[in-house]
Amino acid sequence: MRFHVLTLFPEAIEGPLQASMLGQAQRRGLISVTVTDIRDYTHDAHGTADDYQFGGGPGMVMKPEPVIEAVESAIASKSCCSGTSHANAPPPILIMSPQGDALDQRLVEELAQTPEIVLVCGHYAGVDERVKEYFGAREVSIGDYVLTGGELPALVLIDAISRLVPGVVGSMENVVQDSITSGLLQHPLYTRPAEYRGMAVPEVILSGHHGEIERWRRRESLRRTLEKRPDLLQAADLSPGDLDYLESIGYMRLRCTTEQPQSDLPGHEG
Ligand code: ADE
Repeated sequence: MRFHVLTLFPEAIEGPLQASMLGQAQRRGLISVTVTDIRDYTHDAHGTADDYQFGGGPGMVMKPEPVIEAVESAIASKSCCSGTSHANAPPPILIMSPQGDALDQRLVEELAQTPEIVLVCGHYAGVDERVKEYFGAREVSIGDYVLTGGELPALVLIDAISRLVPGVVGSMENVVQDSITSGLLQHPLYTRPAEYRGMAVPEVILSGHHGEIERWRRRESLRRTLEKRPDLLQAADLSPGDLDYLESIGYMRLRCTTEQPQSDLPGHEG
């Protein structure tokens, strides 16, 4: 998996990517990250990458020429598409922006299908709209809050996609069983010691009884999801047993209106 990151602050990308699993994944050749400094594509001696907004308003806007030329150069580079001429589909170009499509695990999985991605890190008030228009780029947001720039969002995206590349995390089983990937939040986790400052680990998970442990974990996942993220339950793959348990702890099963008899509908006198 190849990532091309275009930024005004290369060090904000390069540093964090050296650490931990992503550093290892790069050293093992499982992922590659090429960082391009957008300032190298500015047109004046001062390296001006931003300008005032037409129409007035607070904040500067990233100029289109350096960004478009930096993207073109990244796409044309040998490290992109293994130096091919993009006879096939060009890589998706993503602009990190709070105005973008919300990043969730489904979008991460979709993006992980492509062999390479170009990420543009916005700064200041944002990027000139013509960059998006020119490349048919997609804007992606990592949440409803505004950061100082797109570097952290780009790192979040690289991290989430890289985890899905075989070999990057220890076992693919971890990835499949992940919280969210499975549609539910994860059950509580415990490790040794079995008791710490009067806090004991639930007995069932010390029992060695795998069936009971799995049942407890599933129920804890369901309970947590109902408490913290009930919205996830709508799309989760739930068995009749799961639904019975959820109902026993207060979940209201939504009735499917298409199956509802006419006589049940309000205003129908029978
Ligand atoms: N740039 C600033 N804030 C952002 C966000 N929430 N998501 C993506 N890019 C951003």
